[in-house]
Amino acid sequence: MKRRILSLILGTALSAAMLTGCGGSQTTATTAAPASEAKADVTTTAKEAATEAAKATGSGGKVGVAMPTQSSERWINDGANMKKQLEALGYQVDLQYAEDDVQMQVSQIENMIASGVNCLVIASIDSSALVNVEVQAKNAGIPIIAYDRLLMDTDAVSYYATFDNKGVGTAIGQYIKDKKELDKAKAEGKSYTIEFFMGSPDDNNALFLYNGLMEVLKPYLDDGTLVCESGRTSFEDTCILRWSQETAQQNCENYLTGFYADKKLDICASAFDGFAYGCKAALEGAGYKVGEDWPLITGQDAELMATKNIISGFQTMSIYKDTRLLAEKCVTMVQAVLQGAKPEINDTTQYNNGKIVVPSYLCTPVAVDKDNYKKVIVDGGYYTEAQLAQ
Ligand code: BGC
Repeated sequence: MKRRILSLILGTALSAAMLTGCGGSQTTATTAAPASEAKADVTTTAKEAATEAAKATGSGGKVGVAMPTQSSERWINDGANMKKQLEALGYQVDLQYAEDDVQMQVSQIENMIASGVNCLVIASIDSSALVNVEVQAKNAGIPIIAYDRLLMDTDAVSYYATFDNKGVGTAIGQYIKDKKELDKAKAEGKSYTIEFFMGSPDDNNALFLYNGLMEVLKPYLDDGTLVCESGRTSFEDTCILRWSQETAQQNCENYLTGFYADKKLDICASAFDGFAYGCKAALEGAGYKVGEDWPLITGQDAELMATKNIISGFQTMSIYKDTRLLAEKCVTMVQAVLQGAKPEINDTTQYNNGKIVVPSYLCTPVAVDKDNYKKVIVDGGYYTEAQLAQ
């Protein structure tokens, strides 16, 4: 059954400063200063007042934020963070979720364009399916920022804010390599069974992750230290459309019955926390027990449920992606395109979308497990101990 994320209150409260009297008193305070300084101060004060007024009325412009789905917690956090941060800067925000329905996302973006947004932020469902609507935005002079997922086959995208997607894959691979001590296993002639659950073929991130993962694990598959009984190791054979938890569970069930009737599955190389939940259900159904024969299960996003599963042993690790930081980087890009400023960019080579290489900022993903989740996630203020204990 699809996971339902029920309780999320968008933290949209805008603490607009009260302006009355503020500018006046500052101006008065500068009257004794030399004329030139006083003039500068008055100008600064007027600017500040204008910014504050913009904040209070949302007149900094309107930003359309198109998100893919609310079925996964991370996107709810992404949307909430974007809205909160943009509103705090005085922008009006139209935040829409398309529930993994490509046509719905196209319509939502068309409506945003028609309603006169000044900028679009898009986390796509199918990254190549928005080409026409991107042309519409371009013709209307509306800049587009790609959020987390690259927008493919278009020159209408100005910037891309994301995590190091290949780095996510290498971090998962490295974790498996270290935890299973693959070099030692190889030297001792030992082997581990492994199955792969990779991301959606219409999401550019999924292939980046796969390539990073295989950069670390392929040598061990080649020399037999890792054995994939299903034989499904290619991206084409292991990708899961729309990151479906149900499909991951189904695949895992099929692998367990088809290939692991008389042996154990040691590793589920899963590219997403949702897949880890699917694998968990399949493994429980097949009688696997935590603390006995439970496999090493990886994930991505460090969702609240995944972090709880890490604590209880049902998931071994996840990739923590601080969505607050991603939103922050994306917001600087919005400001840049609207105000002619330069946002911080740290990659100008990797993200070729088939039309252009999109200037990008890549945030750093961090592997978390039960040994470091407190330090990284709790001390980092992402979840509280109380949330994790519920
Ligand atoms: C994101 C991942 C996420 C996945 C499924 C990808 O594009 O980069 O963080 O787990 O989508 O929602």
